[in-house]
Amino acid sequence: MDFSDKKVLVTGASRGIGKATAIAFAQKGAKIGINFRSNLNEAKKTLSELPGEGHHLFQKDISQKENCQTLIDEFISAYGSLDVLVNNAGISIFHDIDEVDFDHWTDAWENTFRTNLFAAANMCFCAAQAMMKSGGGRIVNVSSRGAFRGEPTKPAYGASKAALNAMSQSLAKKLAPHNIYVGAVAPGFTETEMAAITLTTKERENLLRESPFQRMAQPEEVAHAILFLASDGAEYSSGTIIDVNGASYLRS
Ligand SMILES: NC(=O)c1ccc[n+]([C@@H]2O[C@H](COP(=O)([O-])OP(=O)(O)OC[C@H]3O[C@@H](n4cnc5c(N)ncnc54)[C@H](OP(=O)(O)O)[C@@H]3O)[C@@H](O)[C@H]2O)c1
Repeated sequence: MDFSDKKVLVTGASRGIGKATAIAFAQKGAKIGINFRSNLNEAKKTLSELPGEGHHLFQKDISQKENCQTLIDEFISAYGSLDVLVNNAGISIFHDIDEVDFDHWTDAWENTFRTNLFAAANMCFCAAQAMMKSGGGRIVNVSSRGAFRGEPTKPAYGASKAALNAMSQSLAKKLAPHNIYVGAVAPGFTETEMAAITLTTKERENLLRESPFQRMAQPEEVAHAILFLASDGAEYSSGTIIDVNGASYLRS
């Protein structure tokens, strides 16, 4: 896969899957916009680890809709065009229905949807306007295995990712005539801060047993699938949702 001089924007790229994706694109010659919300030190560290030149940081909380348009505008000012958008930023909040109070429940749903779905939808809108002007592009949305098998302790998370899948498929149909190809990658548990924070030791042991690989995914393995969907030759895979879950959950 060659991304020489492609301009790629990765949301939530200060750490975890976003960081691995940014590095993987940069290794193939792309220029990367690293979006993140708050952790400037981590973002600067990621920037320093990218091979090649011409990469930039874009600190924006994309759960605020006005920041999505500003982010795309600033990216276009810096690079002239946008070839690939990876909607990776996401949050995961516990809200067990038999434990939390109503305020916790409603906050969890609102915050989860604002980041995992509405931000991605708004980024798709703003990116698509820029891509239509320049003749095309690629959008890859980072979903989750939880969209398919349920998330009993984080139902808003599972629902937001199921909606993200449906949005990806709808936009794949709508945008193909504009040479914009849209896909999604659905990881299982992946060795990042998000997984470290949300898992107890016992849960971790149980989860490792779910995959015949007896391990979590590495962020680089998720990045590999993201790059495939954004690569030349993957156009006809538009609308696809790629599972990266070590055969832990096989959907038909
Ligand atoms: N790890 C897993 O097991 C797993 C499994 C399935 C799917 N996923 C999905 O993969 C994606 C990445 O997960 P991860 O594990 O790499 O997460 P992570 O380690 O928690 O990193 C999250 C990244 O998203 C950024 N972010 C969060 N909210 C944001 C906002 N409102 N605006 C801009 N940036 C924001 C964070 O920025 P700051 O550092 O500045 O806060 C950080 O860079 C998520 O969509 C997640 O749902 C993860």
